[in-house]
Amino acid sequence: MNNKGIIAKYRRYLAVTGATPVITLQEGNTPLLPAPSLAKLTGTRMEVFLKCEGANPTGSFKDRGMTMAISKAKEAGTRAVICASTGNTSASAAAYSAKAGLTCFVILPKGAIALGKLAQAMMHGAKVIAIDGNFDQALEIVKEISEKNNITLVNSINPHRIEGQKTGAFEIVDQLGRSPDFHFIPVGNAGNITAYWKGYKEYKRSGRFSRMPHMMGWQAAQSAPIVKGYPIKNPKTLATAIRIGNPASWIKAEEARDESKGMIGMVTDRQIIAAYRHLGEVEGIFCEPASAASVAGFMKLAASGFFKQESRSEAVTVCILTGHGLKDPDRAVAESAKPRTCPADVKAVLKIMGIKNSSRRKR
Ligand code: F0G
Repeated sequence: MNNKGIIAKYRRYLAVTGATPVITLQEGNTPLLPAPSLAKLTGTRMEVFLKCEGANPTGSFKDRGMTMAISKAKEAGTRAVICASTGNTSASAAAYSAKAGLTCFVILPKGAIALGKLAQAMMHGAKVIAIDGNFDQALEIVKEISEKNNITLVNSINPHRIEGQKTGAFEIVDQLGRSPDFHFIPVGNAGNITAYWKGYKEYKRSGRFSRMPHMMGWQAAQSAPIVKGYPIKNPKTLATAIRIGNPASWIKAEEARDESKGMIGMVTDRQIIAAYRHLGEVEGIFCEPASAASVAGFMKLAASGFFKQESRSEAVTVCILTGHGLKDPDRAVAESAKPRTCPADVKAVLKIMGIKNSSRRKR
């Protein structure tokens, strides 16, 4: 099908009018991939799917929200936008701003942004400012600047971002022909879990499905303010995208959890890397570490026998893979087997390949 982007596809559900200049890079319509190896871990007949948001134009789910935020900013006559970011928001804001002809300022925690994301923001011509501080501090700074100047904030506290991102839920229902029973998702600033829950609620009203999913959010163990119940001053995790200690949509995330009878749990960096490698090596999917947090949460529950309960054993689960693995090449290289080197001759290569008897030829 011809993909014209999420605004064209779900216009009825979005606050756009004839006066809205639609700025799109043809985001959305991402694959929903069956992951039998994950289903197998549960020892049940359940089905598991991966929503591959890394297939969006800038390689993350942020594009769904950014097409809306930038289109509405353009409609309002804004000349410049600003965001704080752990990387993906800045990459997306920079790309959509380039397309819209807007100036884009991005404020990043210095040294804590995956290389690919930084490259994207720079390549799309954003004005990049790295602060000696973390994401939470960067967010406070951009809030103040946007309030006092004529610059539009495009973090997920901008409601248009949530509106765009809710289309992820619509798409999952359209692709499955039903709603999932469990929706696994990484939680950082908590905009995306908020958006998906809003999306499911709105789409249910259209009568396409009857049962709401349980929202299963996952934070990194040392960046888990919602799980712990208090802000984390110095959040840590190698999943830099979700290294956030005081999420902006904290309350909304708790609402999604409670209304859906779901949960927000935490996974260690070790569990995140195990899921990251499993996806790469068994399912053929290269996502970034933060994305693997949703799958790590799934694997943790599977190992605990959570899905063995009769009522869950034929459930349908969707895990959101929020961003592409190429965003963070340093992490991928650090976690994988290194290439071997040898002289440029067949014998030496075969030796490394572990093939000894290669002299036999077919006649
Ligand atoms: N996964 C990835 C790959 C992300 O980039 C983010 C957030 C999340 C998950 C968490 O989503 O914040 O809506 O709960 N990245 C933001 C950024 C903070 O600046 O790119 P959330």
